[in-house]
Amino acid sequence: MNNDSKIFRSIVKGVGASLPKKIVTNKDLTMTVDTSEEWIEERTGIKERRIASEGETTSSLGAEAAQKAINNSGLENSDIDLIILATSTPDNTFPASATAIQSSLGIRKGYAYDMQAVCSGFVFAIEAADNAIKVGNAKNALVIGSETFSRIIDWDDRGTCVLFGDGAGAIVLSASDDASNRGVLSNHLHSDGRYGDLLYVDGGPSTSSQVGFLRMDGKGVFKHAVHNLSSAIIEAIEYNNLNINDIDWFVPHQANKRILEAVSKKVGLSKDKVIITVDKHANTSAASIPLAINDAVEEGKIKPGDLVLLEAMGGGFSWGSTLIRW
Ligand code: ACO
Repeated sequence: MNNDSKIFRSIVKGVGASLPKKIVTNKDLTMTVDTSEEWIEERTGIKERRIASEGETTSSLGAEAAQKAINNSGLENSDIDLIILATSTPDNTFPASATAIQSSLGIRKGYAYDMQAVCSGFVFAIEAADNAIKVGNAKNALVIGSETFSRIIDWDDRGTCVLFGDGAGAIVLSASDDASNRGVLSNHLHSDGRYGDLLYVDGGPSTSSQVGFLRMDGKGVFKHAVHNLSSAIIEAIEYNNLNINDIDWFVPHQANKRILEAVSKKVGLSKDKVIITVDKHANTSAASIPLAINDAVEEGKIKPGDLVLLEAMGGGFSWGSTLIRW
């Protein structure tokens, strides 16, 4: 442990993403389940999603996204001393898929572990990496969200199978002694286990011999999502003594366009500032925020100095926000 008093903040140095090659459109889904292109797009905003083929795994997608983020950061793989992989779909029950990513990137030092907070996982992982950097346990952290939800979807359940996709995104978070206002400004995390039965997987090593399938009460999730996400945004704004209009970009977990519109309306956020990728990625759980960040950076939307608010909610329920001066 290195208590370097000069470390003020962790700053984002690089971003990267990786998507499976196979695109599945809403029309494709009408061939296998009783649904329609219109129903899916109207209720969710989703037009297509990527689905992992055999050989494409949470760790392989995560490693590709992570390598791109490192390349983009100007660092070497050997500079990385912490890897946190947010995922609910690890390659195996153990070891942590983060260690498989560490190995495939040729990284031999530091530590690596998985973070399981479902769709909020990426925000939870940033908080953990930010804290590790601030106490001097790490200097250059890879924060990855990677998921293969297609493998825990009941493809006969039209209420859930149309909503999810696979993919991975990553950022490099580095210690900075730069006294400017850049970096992670705040993290606020919450969980409330009373609502576990509204969104869960009906299997797992301690209760069943099967991995299980995702089960969801869509209406129940929707109601809590709008309430919790709005509160998380207001909490971050108030904590940082900001006005909602001070936020340059809002990067929400991409679950459903209607949830995002309802939240934006409730907190008075301009639609032009909301990054939306749910149309092409669907809900990729912990990967959705870094995938959306990567798009927004590549498109020249998010730029150095911008105030970027991330927020997410997922199973548990767990939810929270991260505010970053880019
Ligand atoms: N195609 C056609 N019809 C469908 C489909 C489908 N894929 N799925 C359900 N329906 C039918 C239902 O059977 C129902 O029919 P009925 O009226 O004859 O019984 C009808 O459509 C309406 O169903 P509802 O569940 O009431 O539809 P709703 O408007 O609530 O939309 C949805 C469903 C899209 C799942 C919505 O509730 C939702 O988005 N919830 C949030 C869930 C979510 O985003 N979860 C992701 C994980 S959590 C997170 O990331 C925040």
